[in-house]
This record gives sequence, structure tokens and C-alpha cells, in this order.
Amino acid sequence: MTLLVTGGAGFIGSNFVNDWFAGHDEPVVNLDALTYAGNLHNLDALRNDARHRFVQGDIGDRALLDRLLAEHRPRAIVNFAAESHVDRSIHGPGEFMRTNVLGTFALLEAARAYWGGLDGDAKASFRFLHVSTDEVYGSLTPDAPAFTESHAYEPNSPYSASKAASDHLVRAWHHTYGLPVLTTNCSNNYGPYHFPEKLVPLMIVNALAGKPLPVYGDGMQVRDWLYVGDHCSAIRSVLASGRVGETYNVGGWNEKPNIEIVKTICALLDELRPDAGGPYARLISYVKDRPGHDRRYAIDARKIERELGWRPAETFESGIRKTVRWYLDHADWVANVQSGGYRDWVATNYAQR
Ligand code: NAD
Ligand code: TYD
Repeated sequence: MTLLVTGGAGFIGSNFVNDWFAGHDEPVVNLDALTYAGNLHNLDALRNDARHRFVQGDIGDRALLDRLLAEHRPRAIVNFAAESHVDRSIHGPGEFMRTNVLGTFALLEAARAYWGGLDGDAKASFRFLHVSTDEVYGSLTPDAPAFTESHAYEPNSPYSASKAASDHLVRAWHHTYGLPVLTTNCSNNYGPYHFPEKLVPLMIVNALAGKPLPVYGDGMQVRDWLYVGDHCSAIRSVLASGRVGETYNVGGWNEKPNIEIVKTICALLDELRPDAGGPYARLISYVKDRPGHDRRYAIDARKIERELGWRPAETFESGIRKTVRWYLDHADWVANVQSGGYRDWVATNYAQR
């Protein structure tokens, strides 16, 4: 038994792989292109672990996929690999189409060919689990009910449009070819190994460096925040017991406006690493809004609870405290990811705001 995980050197994928070995000995083949978002240091704990095999490569490389599937004969594929940052998708949507749409297509085709050659139990139990986002559903008004699995797809950014396209491909490969797929649509994650271009880690690392904390627009955009370890446990549940062809929404029952997230991080840093210059909230700086900024996301996670008994283990308070502590304890990791490429991105995204 083996899993093929794609994108397992990124934020959620590396948490998933690290967590996996806490509860399983089943080997993982980890295929990741190591883009700017992929980081082998996220997998340092597995450096000498024979259960983990890392392969640098692209999910769009069909020959490589065929070779890996033939060699390792996985019982499932879990697809995390993606371009994942909305602001980057606005500055350059091409990579999002290449990886999220065409890459998923290549992976589906390779999976279909491999699965078609299996028989008996191996064929019946094979799964293709596609990890997606709540952003495919578009934006909610303040009082609208949270997204259920039957909510219409209304993606608004190049990122969410590319993820919506990939979800549609996964669905079609099930309906047309019978590929045994599962899709998860999760809300915003936070936690260890989060690349500091996204809201939570950016605010932590900027505050510690005494830099402005850039809040887009009025800061009242609402996201539903989930600790990454809870997302990983949801994926394990869906992989183990999800109904083939179904989608499962995953969320934290934890809607908060961005400004509240930023103020919570500031308060935790005031407690854990007080700054002689005064409270960190003094660094909050309202900047020009993101174009097409979705106002509110909220997940109705009752289906996964009803069918699979999954609920998040962390509250926002416990999860964000763990996260801030992790960043304080991992200054080397932070310094390592803030390379030249990272500085170029910060200049591109924030200079004009
Ligand atoms: P990430 O950007 O941190 O990591 C993506 C990983 O994929 C990186 O390691 C990167 O090197 C790899 N990758 C990119 N292109 C590749 C390619 N062509 N071939 C192979 N590997 C490639 O992203 P993340 O936040 O860990 O998100 C993982 C998945 O979860 C994505 O599909 C994303 O859409 C989805 N998701 C993310 C969130 C969130 O809050 N971060 C929420 C819901 C769903
Ligand atoms: P982000 O972490 O990029 O995730 P997503 O856009 O996928 O939800 O952003 C989360 C929210 O925080 C989003 O409403 C945009 C906002 N935001 C800021 O206000 N300032 C920032 O510097 C960043 C990166 C995001």
C-alpha cells in the first residue's frame, strides 16, 4: 500500500505528509515541483525516513506520472499541487492555468490509465482525492447562508476560476470514465509552514520585523479559518470513508473579518514577544484593496460531520496561539523562505498600494 501525494512540500501538503506518519506506516511518494511555495525544509523531520520518497517533478509531466504510478502502484492519489495565492493569480494568471487546470488534467489522465489497468480489490478501492477550496463558490452577502456542497460555482479570481475548472475536470472524469474521485472544498487554513505571502504568516513576520501590517480595503472581508491540522484530518477521513464521486466542504465554523485576525495576532505577539516600541497594532496600515476582492466566505461543514463524523479539534483561539508560537520558535525557517524571490514578490504586490 502506498499513497501518491502531489504538492507535499507546500503548506498543507507538508502538514499532511508529516501528520500521516504519526498515525500510519504506509509509504508516501511525494511529487512536488518545488516552485517558490515548495520547501524541502518543511519535510526535514522525514529526511532519513524510508517511508517517505520525495520526487521533484511536475504534475503536468505525463511521462513522469506514468513512470511513478507503474513503479509505486499507489492505492490512492491525493492532489494538493497547485498555484494557490490569489494576489499572484492577479499579477500572473498563466501559471495557474498551467498547473491547476492542465496539471490536474494530466494527473487525471495518468490516474485513469493506471486505474484502468488494475483489477479486483485494487481497482475497487483506488481513490483520486482532489483538494480544493471554498473560493470556487464566489462571494457571500453578509447574511447569506454558508456554502453547502450544492452551492453554484461562481469563481471571481483567476485562482478560484482555475480551481473551479480543476474541480469540474475531476467531476467529469468520474461521470464519464468512472474514475473513483473525491473532492474536498476547504476554507482558509493557517498553521505551521505557511508561506508568508498569505495573511496570517505575513502579519506575524512583518510585525516581528517592525514592518507595516497591510490590511486590504476596510479589513472587513470575512473568511472561515481552519487550523491546518484539522484540514489534514478531514482529508484523511474523506480518503478513508468518503463516498465516491462526492464532494465534502471542510470548514472551521469560525468566520472572522480580516482586521480581527490581524488584531488577534498583534495581541498574541504583545503577550509572547513584547516590543519595546509599543503594541504591534500600531503597525496596522490600511492599503489599496485587492481587485475583485471577495467579501465573505463561509462553509457549511454539516455533510462531512454527518457522514464521516469529522469536526475540527482546534478552536481559533487554540490554533492561532499554536501558530504564533510556531513562528516564534522557527526563526530559521522564516529567514530561509524570505529569499530574493520573496523580496521581489513583496515589492511587486505592495509597492503600488
Ligand atoms: P502552497 O502554495 O503552499 O503549496 C503548493 C505546492 O504545490 C508547493 O509545494 C508547490 O511546489 C507545488 N506545486 C506547484 N505547482 C506544481 C506542479 N505543477 N507540479 C507539482 N507540484 C507543484 O499551497 P497550499 O496552501 O498548501 O494549498 C494546497 C492545496 O490546497 C491547493 O490545491 C489549494 O488550492 C488548496 N487549498 C488551500 C487552502 C489554503 O488556505 N491555503 C484552502 C483550501 C484549499
Ligand atoms: P489570503 O491569505 O491571501 O487568502 P485568500 O485570498 O485566499 O482568502 O488573504 C486572506 C484575506 O486577507 C483576504 O481577504 C485578503 C486579505 N489580505 C490582506 O488584507 N492583506 C494582505 O497583505 C494579504 C496577503 C491578504
